[in-house]
Amino acid sequence: MRATAAGIRQAADYLRRGRLVAFPTETVYGLGADATNADAVGRVFQAKNRPAGHPLIIHAADAAAAFTVGAEDPAAARLGERFWPGPLTLVLPLRPEAGIADAVTGGRSTVAVRVPRHPVAAALLREVGRPVAAPSANPHGRLSPTEAHHVRDELGAAVDLVLDGGPTEIGLESTVLELVGARPVLLRAGGITVEELEAAIGPVDEPAAHEPARAPGMLRKHYAPRTPLRLDADGPLPNEVYLGFGEAPSAACNLSPEGDLEEAARNLFAMLRLLDAKGARRIAVAPIPDRHLGKAINDRLRRAERGAASPGGTGVVQTVCERPS
Ligand code: TXA
Ligand code: MG
Repeated sequence: MRATAAGIRQAADYLRRGRLVAFPTETVYGLGADATNADAVGRVFQAKNRPAGHPLIIHAADAAAAFTVGAEDPAAARLGERFWPGPLTLVLPLRPEAGIADAVTGGRSTVAVRVPRHPVAAALLREVGRPVAAPSANPHGRLSPTEAHHVRDELGAAVDLVLDGGPTEIGLESTVLELVGARPVLLRAGGITVEELEAAIGPVDEPAAHEPARAPGMLRKHYAPRTPLRLDADGPLPNEVYLGFGEAPSAACNLSPEGDLEEAARNLFAMLRLLDAKGARRIAVAPIPDRHLGKAINDRLRRAERGAASPGGTGVVQTVCERPS
């Protein structure tokens, strides 16, 4: 359904009745449910085939609403002021009086909250007037959806309504920052860079490798196309399709011919999906500079590299992506 005012009203009504609504955010499409309704939240896990231990992000209309769910401290307040609405998720102590269904947090005493800036998400959340739990609207372990048809193709009838707001602006999931212990910890690189966070609140830790439980749901394998990937490739080998960055005449798709990291982030998942469908033996990906948004892009590429399962196809593929006119 198009995300008109009437569509948004209907979607809000669906959510209040415990139904599932996929909606656009500035990062990726989310699969929303009333976070206070345990049945609805249960159906989100079912629809995605998501393991019960993987907690969901709560979406709120504004910082005040977000802080009724997660407890605010000075760092959270500063970050909220600086980056909300926007692609930042904060993991905070859960406020039990918010009445969030246990399954949302997997029974933890912490909760992830964010205030999206996409106008459709913002209008929907205002209209619902309740916290909405929304993981990315993809089957567990697969690429996040950046267009409405990705959701319909992969989740189909498990979703009661898909609000179509066009392709998403950022294309990668939000940055997840934990503000629970003595120092802030980056749990997932994303739309807001570490450089931006540190400019606002000072040093941010990265979780130690021996602390896997710290970021539940952050699997080493994730965000996977079916076709295997080869990273840091300077060009395609026979039977590979090439995903370029910067000047790359032999690329079937190019994340950003100008070498722009924001453009590359926006294109990443959609181009991987297109190349995945083309039956190549392997997708070779150009090196991406490991700075700013490039860190989040490389994080997703490394997980996708580990996640791809099948041996890939055999076809030789030429141009796949349309050239911008
Ligand atoms: O951009 C986004 O964040 C998208 C859009 C739809 O908002 N949502 C999203 O949700 O990516 P999801 O469920 O795919 O990823 C949520 C991540 C989990 O993988 C987990 O690492 C972290 O958020 N998370 C949620 N609750 C947490 C908690 N209590 N403690 C630690 N990490 C948590
Ligand atoms: Mg996800």
